[in-house]
Amino acid sequence: MTFVRACGLGELEENTPKRVELDGTPVSVVKTEGEVFAINDICSHANVSLSEGEVEDCQIECWLHGSAFDLRTGKPSGLPATRPVPVYPVKIDGDDVLVSLSQES
Ligand code: FES
Repeated sequence: MTFVRACGLGELEENTPKRVELDGTPVSVVKTEGEVFAINDICSHANVSLSEGEVEDCQIECWLHGSAFDLRTGKPSGLPATRPVPVYPVKIDGDDVLVSLSQES
């Protein structure tokens, strides 16, 4: 599994998603509840950036139609989205947040 640096840990604010691009893939990096998560930044319902949505209860909410995706599994909690969004493994190395795109779950 190859990890690449997504951003610095110090750049993340609690519950404020940060959009990064890794190998051409838009990824939203989220620090919440003492953990850091990485989820594909595009909603599975339409081509909308999830990082512009709100984070609550370990979910990121799509600002357009309100489906919320679990940051651990990528699964939507409700309609209109029905398909999960890919989530990626995260590793913290000092002040670096590392994300692996190779193993999607
Ligand atoms: S575009 Fe995200 S729920 Fe519709």
